[in-house]
Amino acid sequence: MKTIILAGGSGTRLFPLSREHYPKQFIPLLDDESLFQNTVKRALLLSTPQEITIVTNAEHRFLVRDQLAAIGCDCRVLVEPVGRNTLPAIYHGVQEITRENGPDTVAVLPSDHLITATGEFQEAFRLAERFAKDYLVVFGVRPTSPHTGYGYIRPGEPLGCGGARVDAFVEKPDLETARSYVADGYLWNSGMFCFDAGLFLSECEVCAPEVVRAFEQPMEEAYNATPALSIDYGVMEKTRRAAVVPLESDWSDVGNFDAVYAALPKNSDGNAVRGEHIGIDSSGNLIITDSLVATVGVHEIAIVETKDAILVAARDEAQRVGEIVKALRDKG
Ligand code: GDD
Ligand code: MG
Repeated sequence: MKTIILAGGSGTRLFPLSREHYPKQFIPLLDDESLFQNTVKRALLLSTPQEITIVTNAEHRFLVRDQLAAIGCDCRVLVEPVGRNTLPAIYHGVQEITRENGPDTVAVLPSDHLITATGEFQEAFRLAERFAKDYLVVFGVRPTSPHTGYGYIRPGEPLGCGGARVDAFVEKPDLETARSYVADGYLWNSGMFCFDAGLFLSECEVCAPEVVRAFEQPMEEAYNATPALSIDYGVMEKTRRAAVVPLESDWSDVGNFDAVYAALPKNSDGNAVRGEHIGIDSSGNLIITDSLVATVGVHEIAIVETKDAILVAARDEAQRVGEIVKALRDKG
């Protein structure tokens, strides 16, 4: 199987660790390796290094090369002249793979996820591969909240072995709709995909012909001509050829510091600490620091210290950290 890893894009909710120049997937967030490096290692469970294609933007290509070298993985890196969201990036990757090898099964992995149960991850892809000739396969995660940052999948007719056709795919619904979806048994879209390259290209022709037309041109022109579109809005919401398989592994998109807290091991006071921390009557905190952080009588907060900024936030408001980046931008 070929694997495409999406390594462009930038988030704002892990400020000050993540910056525009240093997005979350490249931070050694949970151990000494980044989520991107974790993703490459996961991809190696599906593909050989020669079968892995990374798609990233010009600004991050050296970071990608360095992080690949650090884990000794020599895979192909495609560089986008400008970022146009995930559909053009995937289309570019699939086009290159097909040009070289003809149609093959392709796995698409985002680079900003945390999955530790690699056995279940492999199992899900083994199952997906069975359906990939006939369907664009998505991986369904059982929702734990009406999160509005995810795609929602309504499973339909069973296809056997736990797989099902997708009856409806709705990207990033509003809160009220998301609540009703959770109640109605919809699944979250994990953001990973698996499909036959030929089927993907023909479904793009049906659902997003403007992207296909753009990519009939040389690469530089293609990226300038294509609309910016995610695979979710551009293809998954429209296609009638989608199937879902369950993802039984742990899964987190590590979208904010509360999710980082959840992913890290805790000490006996329930503090998750990366760096040095002395806590007096302090519990449930996330501490990330290169120096020493000392706390007295504080609970359930996040303290994140970098060379040039310190964040202090209530853990249950961690999703609002993106507002800081907006405020900084407005300030100029
Ligand atoms: N190469 C490249 N170029 N990669 C990109 C680009 C781009 O222009 N834009 C985003 N990416 C990468 C991101 O780095 C990430 O690894 C992946 O593609 C997904 O993009 P996000 O921007 O993080 O998407 P999302 O989280 O809002 O939504 C997607 O993931 C959710 C699960 O985390 C969707 O697939 C949702 O349906 C899904 O629920
Ligand atoms: Mg994401």
